[in-house]
Amino acid sequence: SKDKLWGGRFTQPTDKFVEEFTASIQFDKRLYHQDIRGSIAHARMLGKQGIIPMEDVEQIVHGLQQILQQIEAGEFDFSIALEDIHMNIEARLSAKIGEAGKRLHTGRSRNDQVALDIRLYLRDEIVDIATYLDLLIDALLGQAEANLDVIMPGFTHLQTAQPILFSHHLMAYVEMLTRDKGRMEDCLKRVNVLPLGAGALAGTTFPIDREYVAEQLNFPAITRNSLDSVSDRDFALEFLAASSILMMHLSRFSEELILWSTSEFRFIELSDGFCTGSSIMPQKKNPDVPELVRGKTGRVYGNLMALLTVMKSLPLAYNKDMQEDKEPLFDTIDTVKGSLKIFADMIREMRINGETMRRAAGYGFSTATDVADYLVRKGLPFRDAHEVVGKAVAYCVENEMDITDLSLAEWQLFSAKVDNDIFAAITVEASVNARNVPGGTARARVESEIRAAREGK
Ligand code: ARG
Repeated sequence: SKDKLWGGRFTQPTDKFVEEFTASIQFDKRLYHQDIRGSIAHARMLGKQGIIPMEDVEQIVHGLQQILQQIEAGEFDFSIALEDIHMNIEARLSAKIGEAGKRLHTGRSRNDQVALDIRLYLRDEIVDIATYLDLLIDALLGQAEANLDVIMPGFTHLQTAQPILFSHHLMAYVEMLTRDKGRMEDCLKRVNVLPLGAGALAGTTFPIDREYVAEQLNFPAITRNSLDSVSDRDFALEFLAASSILMMHLSRFSEELILWSTSEFRFIELSDGFCTGSSIMPQKKNPDVPELVRGKTGRVYGNLMALLTVMKSLPLAYNKDMQEDKEPLFDTIDTVKGSLKIFADMIREMRINGETMRRAAGYGFSTATDVADYLVRKGLPFRDAHEVVGKAVAYCVENEMDITDLSLAEWQLFSAKVDNDIFAAITVEASVNARNVPGGTARARVESEIRAAREGK
């Protein structure tokens, strides 16, 4: 216990397994950069306030910069006995520069220090994730622009419903991902608040200047309650929740890509680089990437549940339970960034079988609603029109034909209001372009949505 920074009141050494069990250095070493940056800002503030001598501040800053270089060069020996990144760095600093190093922790606790480090770390990652979202949105817009002529069947209940533009379908994902970006940016507002200065839980007796630290670390605001500052992980939960929703979107999209790649659909072909073969079945080309993204959605949901459960019932203020915040957070960051990056590349390289989609768009009585709408324009109430077309569909099923195969004479068996202009009204193009309302699938609407998205609305 002599070598522990907190060893003063202890007489017996920590059990070896307890040491390992309670340590977080294995995973929180990721925070080294934020930890050093925060300590430098803290030390400068202590010096400016006359709490520690300026000569000490210089030594501390210099020492920390050397430690940073050592870590980045892979020359730093992390020690389990020193528990976490905060004490690993502080102990090394004191070993290097002596007395001055031991003054760094004045007016600070690991509780406000760790809250600071996570916030610094997460805010950069959120900015990164927003950039990855932009890349995926850009890939989708590229495909939407390049395939404006492609008509596909739109589905409800996974049954053919009405023809839509393939670009319209892609733009639905642009909407979802744009909201995901908004959620990330919104969460960033609450991440981006300085908790340092809360001390262990109650504040500090030293005349610190929190605003000065906030300025140095680019925080637009400081936290208002010391207890909350060290025990709040809402900001991490919000990030995990936003990430879960984002992954849910990628998972839905994955499911569609997997379905569209089957030999039954053949709507798209993923490029070889994103698929793998089978060790036994020579014909196989498996869509591993979307399958894995769909699968990884589960671990991101799990991470959200893990931290929600860690935090529930925790009394104020800091509890060691909260050390369990880091792995779910880090794992989510890695998973979301990886999934977004690979998705953007995969979408960019995806090949579209426009002919197959178009053929499928005509199957399954996809323009039946258009016939009903046609009859409404001829004066029939919609419910009656629905009934008429239903009968026509039943006739087609009976005679194994498509609704577009009916002759005018056959149409007139069902309604005298049908005329020669029916044929032009029920092509898949006419069906798509007739849906010319804001948010509809008409080509002109989709084009203007793409344009709006390109211009950032
Ligand atoms: N490693 C700790 C964590 O991640 C740092 C804070 C420890 N504070 C304490 N009082 N033990 O939560």
